[in-house]
Amino acid sequence: MAVLMIVVGAVVVVLCFCSALLRWNEVRYSKKDLPPGTMGWPVFGETTEFLKLGPNFMKNQRARYGSIFKSHILGCPTIVSMDPELNRYILMNESKGLVPGYPQSMLDILGKCNIAAVHGSTHKYMRGALLALISPTMIRQQLLLKIDEFMRTHLSDWNHKVVNIQDKTKEMALLSSLKQIAGIESGSMSNEFKPEFFKLVLGTLSLPIDLPGTNYRRGFQARKNIVRMLGQLIEERRASQETYQDMLACLMKQDGNKYKLSDEEIIDQIITILYSGYETVSTTSMMAVKYLHDHPKVLQELRKEHLAIRERKRPEDPIDLNDLKSMRFTRAVIFETSRLATIVNGVLRKTTQDMELNGFLFPKGWRIYVYTREINYDQFLYSDPLTFNPWRWLQDKRLESQNYFFIFGGGTRQCPGKELGIAEISTFLHYFVTRYRWEEVGGDKLMKFPRVEAPNGLHIRVSSY
Ligand code: HEM
Repeated sequence: MAVLMIVVGAVVVVLCFCSALLRWNEVRYSKKDLPPGTMGWPVFGETTEFLKLGPNFMKNQRARYGSIFKSHILGCPTIVSMDPELNRYILMNESKGLVPGYPQSMLDILGKCNIAAVHGSTHKYMRGALLALISPTMIRQQLLLKIDEFMRTHLSDWNHKVVNIQDKTKEMALLSSLKQIAGIESGSMSNEFKPEFFKLVLGTLSLPIDLPGTNYRRGFQARKNIVRMLGQLIEERRASQETYQDMLACLMKQDGNKYKLSDEEIIDQIITILYSGYETVSTTSMMAVKYLHDHPKVLQELRKEHLAIRERKRPEDPIDLNDLKSMRFTRAVIFETSRLATIVNGVLRKTTQDMELNGFLFPKGWRIYVYTREINYDQFLYSDPLTFNPWRWLQDKRLESQNYFFIFGGGTRQCPGKELGIAEISTFLHYFVTRYRWEEVGGDKLMKFPRVEAPNGLHIRVSSY
């Protein structure tokens, strides 16, 4: 009996303590006019529920509090906006103090000249320098040829093999960028670069705890190694008499270059290009393979488009801009894949001053999660939204230009690599569907949140077409 009383007493004490902690955390953040919502536990907030329930956490909170609510996730007091109008406003109004709000670990590891770390005129300058490298003219004159060469080789010996398409598309996104940036082919430098880059990516997604053995420490060390490798490459180019035609050559050009960057800025710009195009391009490509496998009619239509292109060309002719423009159905497949899989759930911003939006206070320094996932399943924009139907993008051409097309972000930070990314994925699909047929080995799990990934890989058995 006495033992039971002690147990009951202990449970009551723990419950009272927990409820006091929760209450204290609510009071700590309470301010007049804040959006409704809950802040969860001190320090951890509601991160566990957010990561466990994913999109359902957002939907539950929206049902309770409306489209704009407060929470404490991923280490910060955060206002989540699921309101499409407000999301658009936030993305369009960086100059009013709505600047990028990416985690500290990401900013530390990607460098202080990284595009997400700079605002105002510096952002304009760095973005201009980047756009000059990946403009439609550059895609036509230089990049497409390199992409084509790369994809041909990358996809050359898959016949009769079981491949992990997740690994292959990740490798593809990184190595294709390295080739475009500095003509780096598969070989010693890329072999040295690859593991460091993978550690860097992991580090940006970790808590900023600088202790031995943490992903953050490893990521930071990987950044140092990457900076050293790129620094050496720049030195070698300066010492050499050779002329190069690649992104690095454009960045290093002094005469007649509108954008003159320091070596530190050049290196951070390269890391920006590698990082921004990496997960987005690889995951979209992997998910396209998945959806094509599951939808034979779509695959048939896509293959028809690509076989027609091949018929017009000799086997050794590369994909050119006209071919790319003619890939209308492919573009639709890429958009539909990005929409249905929601490769990007949203973007992060933070406030540089107290401000009032939609009648609520957005306090200075709070993070804003511009959560755009739900708009991808809006039945007014996309009829039968849970169906994979690329034709919808051809039937209604306005879908790509409507105000709530957030797949590539929006406003002043809208993705500058959109067309380059589409060119890469399209060329990958071209060689994949014209050379191969495939079936899933089966049993692989796919996670949709917080990132789309196959925890144990996505294995397919490939044979020639
Ligand atoms: C399917 C492929 C891609 C998707 C879905 C995608 C998506 C996005 C999104 C949603 C943003 C907005 C981020 C924000 O507002 O904070 C963004 C920005 C950005 N993207 Fe992409 N992206 C893709 C490919 C690429 C590629 C290939 C590059 C390579 C150059 C790239 C470079 C960037 C950069 C540098 C930014 C930051 C722009 C700025 O802050 O001004 N992206 N992307």
